Amino acid sequence: MTAVEQSLPEQNHQPKTIYLKDYQVPDYLVKTTDLRFEIYDGETIVSAMLDLYRNPAATTAATQLRLHGADLELISISLDDKVLTPADYEFGEESLTLFNTPETFKLLTITKIKPEANTSLEGLYRSRTMYCTQCEAEGFRKITYYLDRPDVMSEFTTTVVADKKYPVLLSNGNLLEQGELDNNRHYAIWHDPFKKPAYLFALVAGDLAHIEDSFTTCSGREVALKIFVEPKDLDKCDHAMTSLKNSMRWDEEVYGREYDLNIFMIVAVDDFNMGAMENKGLNIFNTSCVLAKPETTTDAGFQRVEGVVAHEYFHNWSGNRVTCRDWFQLSLKEGFTVYRDAEFSADMGSRTVKRVEGVTLLRTLQFAEDAGPMAHPIRPESYIEISNFYTMTVYEKGAEIIRMLATLLGKDNFRKGTDLYFDRHDGQAVTTEDFVAALADASGRDLTQFKRWYSQAGTPRLEVTDHYDEDAQEYRLTFKQSCPATPECQHKLPFHIPVAMGLLGSAGDLPLYLKDAEPDFETSDNTYKVLELTQAEQSFVFQRVQEKPVPSLLRGFSAPVKLHYHYSRADLVLLMSRDSDGFNRWEASQQLGLAAIYTAMQHYQQGGDLSGWVLDADLIEAYRSVLQDESLDQAMVAYMLSLPSEAYLSELAEVVDVEAIHYSRLAVRKALAHALRDEFVRIYNAYNHQQAYRVTADAIASRSLKNVALAYLILLNDETLIRACEQQYRTSNNMTDVMAALTQLVNSESSLGQGLAENALADFYQRWQHESLVVNQWLMVQASCSLPNTLAKVKALLEHPGFDGKNPNKIRALIASFCNSNAINFHANAGAGYQFLADQIIQLNRQNPQIASRLLTPLTKWKKYNSQQQTLMKAELERIMAEPQLSKDVFEVVSKSLA
Ligand code: PHE
Ligand code: ZN
Repeated sequence: MTAVEQSLPEQNHQPKTIYLKDYQVPDYLVKTTDLRFEIYDGETIVSAMLDLYRNPAATTAATQLRLHGADLELISISLDDKVLTPADYEFGEESLTLFNTPETFKLLTITKIKPEANTSLEGLYRSRTMYCTQCEAEGFRKITYYLDRPDVMSEFTTTVVADKKYPVLLSNGNLLEQGELDNNRHYAIWHDPFKKPAYLFALVAGDLAHIEDSFTTCSGREVALKIFVEPKDLDKCDHAMTSLKNSMRWDEEVYGREYDLNIFMIVAVDDFNMGAMENKGLNIFNTSCVLAKPETTTDAGFQRVEGVVAHEYFHNWSGNRVTCRDWFQLSLKEGFTVYRDAEFSADMGSRTVKRVEGVTLLRTLQFAEDAGPMAHPIRPESYIEISNFYTMTVYEKGAEIIRMLATLLGKDNFRKGTDLYFDRHDGQAVTTEDFVAALADASGRDLTQFKRWYSQAGTPRLEVTDHYDEDAQEYRLTFKQSCPATPECQHKLPFHIPVAMGLLGSAGDLPLYLKDAEPDFETSDNTYKVLELTQAEQSFVFQRVQEKPVPSLLRGFSAPVKLHYHYSRADLVLLMSRDSDGFNRWEASQQLGLAAIYTAMQHYQQGGDLSGWVLDADLIEAYRSVLQDESLDQAMVAYMLSLPSEAYLSELAEVVDVEAIHYSRLAVRKALAHALRDEFVRIYNAYNHQQAYRVTADAIASRSLKNVALAYLILLNDETLIRACEQQYRTSNNMTDVMAALTQLVNSESSLGQGLAENALADFYQRWQHESLVVNQWLMVQASCSLPNTLAKVKALLEHPGFDGKNPNKIRALIASFCNSNAINFHANAGAGYQFLADQIIQLNRQNPQIASRLLTPLTKWKKYNSQQQTLMKAELERIMAEPQLSKDVFEVVSKSLA
């Protein structure tokens, strides 16, 4: 057997665009996949035996087979035991084509790969002490030649062979056999009985410790649950295990879905591009999404672990048992699974709080994406690099589309629909059309128009006007919908939009009598209705309305739209204090906050001084009453008192005035702090007792309210309060309170605060330098500091031993935090921040294209800034564009941003 050296063609031409309309079924399918990995220091030999057959569904009988492959060294290839020679095949860009292929055959390829040299973190790579894989979306082709597309599903058997210094050898499915070999080596054989696409393949080899538990499924089967980590992290696995068991039970109860293998494993790795990956039976997690303990992890961190563990577990049905036909269908699994995990978290904690958090994320990041150059529908029509489409749109907006379907169908029909979907398509690779068809068939609803949500991008705008006829006691609501043009579509057809609503009178919710409506049997609650918009303009008339009502619209944020209705301040105060919908109470508080910030902004933009800015008395009283409202969940009080973020203000702006937004928001916060000082002190003292840390919703709510109060109080630059903050930093028994205090000290404008911050930062690093995830929080708090000179500090931190330019979590903590969460500094100093970011992207372009591409986001928004900023940002994009050997990932985002 001769070794065939193959060098891949350099990518110097324009990358190719892939279109949904070009989809064709595969010519060949794979019945079984037998893999053998021989792991050695520096290289791994992969033998792949594929049992192939012509796809009966293909239109013509193919006599060629094009396999995907990237960065592979082919050692040998044989077809039905006959060794092939270079005349029998041809290398292409990321491909290997075999000629004269028969109806069925067995293909054996042997390839060499270099995991240690793989910095893209796709395929098989090394992370610290272990080997691991990441195959979604198209990473399997970096492991062996294969039909690396999700509609090719096969039964995998995997043998892993390695030195015994890697005692743990894992792959998908159930363990068949393990044993010893010569030369201090050993092996394990895993078999996954469920057909799966290659993107769900996983392998891990390392010196890992684990915790173990078990779960008895609804049909009485016993499942072993194991979480593998580096030994030093064994004390941080319990929360993930609890979350896993809760998820397994919830999916049985809420969706009737039972787990299907004898074992479920999670492995935590430190170098990971994303949050986690749902490989069949062997989920691989970023350490940041699985490890948690009170001393090192904030409440947000705990909740993230719970949410991500649930998300990946839920993929076992929504993603694995029923998978995607092609990558344009990504939202089929991601939108649905995000919706499922959000509902799970709502059931585990506070539903309203979870909704407020979800909508905040959507309205800042997804709405911004929808308004920018990378805007795409949740089912995109084309892409250059699929990794660029793991977006807020596909995930978060995708989840909103599922939520709207659940709202339109109602609980029982939605469940019938998902049952039908899982039954009908178990073991298949399907499309979003198939999903909607199952829901339509099970419920009898016509969802034809609704499907426009899958093909039209952009955030619809809803203009609402009303009219009250006192004599007739009739109230009319008129809705006009429109949607701005996006790159793929200029003129949008009307969407099918569910608007959940109620009407408020002076004493609270009014009963609803909708004119010409069929009597509503579904709900006994006649103060809540779901109006269905299907036309560009539509009116609804309510009868027997005895006073002019204030409409409570889009309750629970029932559709991902921008709602415009002209509320007076008095209307908002009424909604904030009396609406029966918790989400809309919060929404009213945000509208009030926005208006207050806009007033300050106007003053600032006209050259006015914001020092000593004061707020109207009725506004102060409205906030005071929130603080005193005993009926409210404390977490909701905390959110209602938090003003809209700078990111949200920027999204809402036509042209982003970075300084006006920053200083006006700060001025309003200071004004509130002065006016409500006594209330904030009372709250801070009331909740500031050291207690044993618990992660219950109540305990989290108390900490969050207390820390919101602290954040206001620190703005007063009062020595006693600053010292109290420093004391909180020193004496707290949990990372939530420690980080809250540290963040306030770091951002304090007073010299006392600055001095204390410097000591605290030094102390913090000293104490936590061996906990990588904690060091990330330390990097992040410094990168997010809004005081001047932060860029210089960030640059200095690039050289700090606590930073590692190869680790995505560190890059996110330092570089992405600075560029995404620190607008006032990122946009300052004549483009120094832009240049810094472009330098980082150019460096990462070859090392890790996915991370490089993700870092681009703030520069893609260049058209939203003033002309001087635009010029500077655009120049940096052009500088990146001029780089030789741009990755497909970076090329796609930069070229679309400049288009
Ligand atoms: N499928 C993963 C998830 O959402 C995300 C992911 C995509 C992870 C690509 C790694 C690579 O759960
Ligand atoms: Zn997912």
